[in-house]
Amino acid sequence: MPMSQSFQDRLFPIAADIAEHYGTPFHIYDEAGILETGEQLKKAFSGIEGFREYYAVKALPNPRILELMNELDFGFDCSSIPELIMSRQVGGSGEDIMFTSNNTTEEEFLAAAAEGGSILNLDDISLISKVPEFPELVCFRYNPGPRRTGNIIIGNPVEAKYGITHEQVISAYKMAMERGTKRFGLHTMVASNERDYTYMVETARMLLQISAMVEEELGIRFEFLNIGGGLGIPYSPDDNILDLDAMAKEITELFNEFKSAHGYAPRMYMERGRWVTGPHGALITQAINHKSIYRKYVGVDACMSSLMRPALYDAYHHIDVIGRGDQENSETYDIAGSLCENNDKFAVQRDLPTIHEGDLLAIHDTGAHGHAMGFQYNGRLRPKELLLRTGGSVELIRRAETNEDYFQTLNFDENVLPAQ
Ligand SMILES: Cc1ncc(COP(=O)(O)O)c(C=O)c1O
Repeated sequence: MPMSQSFQDRLFPIAADIAEHYGTPFHIYDEAGILETGEQLKKAFSGIEGFREYYAVKALPNPRILELMNELDFGFDCSSIPELIMSRQVGGSGEDIMFTSNNTTEEEFLAAAAEGGSILNLDDISLISKVPEFPELVCFRYNPGPRRTGNIIIGNPVEAKYGITHEQVISAYKMAMERGTKRFGLHTMVASNERDYTYMVETARMLLQISAMVEEELGIRFEFLNIGGGLGIPYSPDDNILDLDAMAKEITELFNEFKSAHGYAPRMYMERGRWVTGPHGALITQAINHKSIYRKYVGVDACMSSLMRPALYDAYHHIDVIGRGDQENSETYDIAGSLCENNDKFAVQRDLPTIHEGDLLAIHDTGAHGHAMGFQYNGRLRPKELLLRTGGSVELIRRAETNEDYFQTLNFDENVLPAQ
């Protein structure tokens, strides 16, 4: 399930027209593909009563995309105030929203509780006394430490800053009960971009075991277990595709077994970002330069301010030169942006068809943690976002940043703290 053939077939023939109309670079997302993947997720887990996906807003925080999540009846996983605001703007409210932050401030707690509230997912035991209005429903993020191995993006659980330890679980829920909590959830997120489905099955098993342990100790039953995000997608054509159906089947069996043994089962939530939208986005950028020094470079008009993942994680993103699909790869290029960092490269020593200036390059799988991770270092601004709608029309869903935007934070009243 990398950038689908169907998305390529609908996008590539019209890419030049879109580029002419809107200018490059831009991220473009596939409405049909997102909705289809969302339905696939719901169908796969339909055997678990009350299953719900809370879309990880950080992956693609755009109101038009969140509207699609609403259409799918997904909730919203938020971890900042702007994400809360956006989720509420598109109609999310109350328990449609899960607020999973860490190093949370009082301001954030208040925002999470405002306007109908949200499900509060606490990252630490010390926060119990800091939540201003302790809610009736509370969830903790569990960090299994040495009980699990993590993976490269999220790190080894022992070294990860997230969650409460195994040893803290019982006291965390006990303290929450003492503050008046009556409804409970349990959350974890131990891996990111993981394509081994058995890892997720083990995560579900782990949470079910903790849930049984807490019930035995404290006599409370969890309303839901949230197995987090982190389903991997094949960024490279050599990557395996995660077997969603096998994962869903085995997790459903685990929940059924739990129900037989305990007479009830919690609902299951998850908060996928990448898996839902990642393959349904592409960054379209134009080749604007050639350079032959010790290597051959193609300079493009996007840079890492539009897509950080290659520089940040050394991540592979597949690249097509639009219109050259059938040609043999005949050159080896580094595809570079304009930012003053040598790791501002979308591809390193990649075999590609010969690229001419003016060619459009499609950088695959930018529909999650792509535009959203953008930044403004070096005065390099974030590009626009477009939506390829189901009917074939193309909608601007976020304009490109302008120089005026860049200077906006320099508009303020003079404010000097005199020397003390
Ligand atoms: C708490 C939490 N949930 C969900 C996600 C989404 O992860 P993914 O997009 O890999 O599914 C993240 C990503 O960083 C996260 O931090």
